[in-house]
Amino acid sequence: MSINFDEHYNRRNTNSLKWDQFKDRIRAKYNVVDSDDILPMWVADMDFAIPTVITDAIKNRLDHPIFGYSYVSDSCKEAIQRWFEKHHNWTIDTKTILFHQGVVPAIATIVETFTKPGDKICISTPVYPAFFNIPQALKREVIACDLVLNHNAYEYDFNALEEAFKTGVKVYILCSPHNPGGVAWSKEDLEHLVQLCIKYDVLLLSDEIHADIVFNGYKHIPTLTVKDADKAKIVTCIAPTKTFNIAGIHAAFMVVPDDQLRLKLNQNLQAHGLGELNLLAAAAVEAAYEKGEEWLNNMIQYISNNMDYVVDELNKVEGISVTKPNASYLIWIDYRETGLSEDDMMQRLLVKGRLAIEPGTKYGEAGRGFLRINVACPLETVKDGVARFKKALS
Ligand SMILES: Cc1ncc(COP(=O)(O)O)c(C=O)c1O
Repeated sequence: MSINFDEHYNRRNTNSLKWDQFKDRIRAKYNVVDSDDILPMWVADMDFAIPTVITDAIKNRLDHPIFGYSYVSDSCKEAIQRWFEKHHNWTIDTKTILFHQGVVPAIATIVETFTKPGDKICISTPVYPAFFNIPQALKREVIACDLVLNHNAYEYDFNALEEAFKTGVKVYILCSPHNPGGVAWSKEDLEHLVQLCIKYDVLLLSDEIHADIVFNGYKHIPTLTVKDADKAKIVTCIAPTKTFNIAGIHAAFMVVPDDQLRLKLNQNLQAHGLGELNLLAAAAVEAAYEKGEEWLNNMIQYISNNMDYVVDELNKVEGISVTKPNASYLIWIDYRETGLSEDDMMQRLLVKGRLAIEPGTKYGEAGRGFLRINVACPLETVKDGVARFKKALS
């Protein structure tokens, strides 16, 4: 397999959210119109070519000229099973898998199935925006309980979380590993969460989309594998889309060992005509989990080097503090010491630096004073991004 993560691909004018659509966003939000030379390092997809084994599988399916109704094959489910067994020491019973178009729509389905408008959904902020946007759009009440920063790493304040649960929370949405903080939660943290969910009869939605991108010395622990997980109400959401850079394929799945929960979720999926993958997505998913390992290992190594570069360089900038995350290809940048407001920082980055990265409050108020940068791109682009960042602050 030839893997060259240094290669540049021109993604402009490909209907890319990252490279094309960001222009509309920064025009609307920051009134920046002249944006052709702005470098986007924001939304979480990679500028790397996907594993050729996936492209080959899609091409192979395209060779058959009929695209009638299809279902996800047993061999695809078994490929998922083998991957999680091998990589995460987790045995997934294939009958507990429910497919969906994405983790975000899966979150919506879970919230809709197990709660009603006005019910409380708890999250730990800062966190991936869909965790509050989706429940709010569905008219649920979002209870945001802040994570605590300890030496640049987020930690749980379990006392605060328990106080929140006491108010009658129905669902807690966990981000594991954590986006944007990049924390691979410890077994103790996950066990603590599971115990709290059991005690307060809270359904635990565990979003593990970033599970496969974890750096040396850290480990992703699937929530469903920790002590007493079988006594809790847990739905885990996973996708190969971050792992293999195939977000545009739209494929995800939920693992739901509890028969009652699975039955209800499945009924809701069926009610909306959901629950299958399109046939090209199914081919991609199977190939990814069956043959994508070598690509992934190389990719993680490449990104780890990118991270080291960014962390070294940005820590030289006055007022900036950065720590290498345990997981994901996203770096959370602390700029609170610069004293700049978020608006000032974004104007500097966009107008002076010509760099588009994410403002921290996108992840909730707890993200104020932070930025998120995506380093899943060739090292040359990363270096360019760092130079632009420095220029913005010079
Ligand atoms: C924690 C988390 N969940 C879900 C998603 C998106 O999932 P999907 O594209 O499958 O809807 C992302 C994308 O960045 C994410 O970070």
